Amino acid sequence: MNAAVVTRYGPPEVVELRDLPDPRPRAGEVLIRVHASAVTAADWRMRSGDAPRGFGLLMRLVLGWRGPRRGVLGITMAGEVIALGEGVTRFALGDRVFALTSARMGGHAERAVVRASDAIAVIAAGISVETAAALPDGGPTAFHFLNEKGGIKAGDRVLINGASGGVGTAAVQLARYFGAEVTAVTSAANAELASRLGASRVIDYQTTDFATEGVRYDLILDTVGNCPYARARPALADGGRLLLVATDLMGTLGAILRPRRHAGHRIVAGVAPEKREVLELLMQLAARGLLTAPIDRVYRLNEIRAAHAHVETRRKRGSVIVRLD
Ligand SMILES: NC(=O)c1ccc[n+]([C@@H]2O[C@H](COP(=O)([O-])OP(=O)(O)OC[C@H]3O[C@@H](n4cnc5c(N)ncnc54)[C@H](OP(=O)(O)O)[C@@H]3O)[C@@H](O)[C@H]2O)c1
Repeated sequence: MNAAVVTRYGPPEVVELRDLPDPRPRAGEVLIRVHASAVTAADWRMRSGDAPRGFGLLMRLVLGWRGPRRGVLGITMAGEVIALGEGVTRFALGDRVFALTSARMGGHAERAVVRASDAIAVIAAGISVETAAALPDGGPTAFHFLNEKGGIKAGDRVLINGASGGVGTAAVQLARYFGAEVTAVTSAANAELASRLGASRVIDYQTTDFATEGVRYDLILDTVGNCPYARARPALADGGRLLLVATDLMGTLGAILRPRRHAGHRIVAGVAPEKREVLELLMQLAARGLLTAPIDRVYRLNEIRAAHAHVETRRKRGSVIVRLD
């Protein structure tokens, strides 16, 4: 099978196309013919070795010292079940499925094996494989931070800093789904996108600093990494929560060691887990027309280096997809 392989950290040129043996499903696993996978922020970080400040050593210990031990990146995938390992009853041959494999990766190959008990779910009728590959890019992270950590509720005033990327576009829509009033922070070029996704107000970060405007929010979700508590504090309502999706080691330690701050403020950081129930919920919302996964560009597998280069600009709108069929 064709696969995009990375054996050492570096620029997009380190990604090579190789012919690898087809994987075989073991007991409890399914074999997927992958049709589409997202090229996510995690993929450019794992390809380049560029971790958030302070996390470089940990990243290399976990992923590999000179390059990722698991050379096939791709944390999401959408395709078709083509073989079942012993004991798998949740899926049948031919099922259209999508999955979030996170650190196990494997989506940038024509075939991949996934444990049937992991974060894998059926694609609803009418939903394309591109959309199915894009939904797990930012959706599970936005859900985890807003709902499981942020306790979002109807009527909350929510600010999404970095509202036009993979996590941000999902966060705007999910916050609206939970009944919140959403303010989005983007560049002017992405204001229309954020409004279309449900933001009632859009702030252009090139002209306005949301933190010093005098408006206060119950939840502030930061996907950019430029919103430490010291900056966010004047913009947090009493009892408000700062949800640090993207932060460095110091920001993470601050959230773990001192989560409670002035005026009942809470700070949350960490890594969103992958859960099958969340994928199922996201797919249900997509099927009901309540959630879309904006797709910036679609590349073919032999254009994977260009896809990495685009994602690494950190200016993608929603998700970038690579097609493998
Ligand atoms: N904690 C976790 O579990 C977790 C999970 C997923 C991702 N992450 C991290 O979260 C970060 C975001 O991921 P992502 O997939 O959403 O990234 P992304 O898709 O690459 O985000 C790109 C978007 O960020 C916007 N942006 C760039 N600079 C901005 C600024 N100064 N203010 C506001 N918006 C700005 C860009 O909009 P403009 O073009 O309009 O500037 C672009 O649309 C990454 O660092 C990723 O590693 C963490």
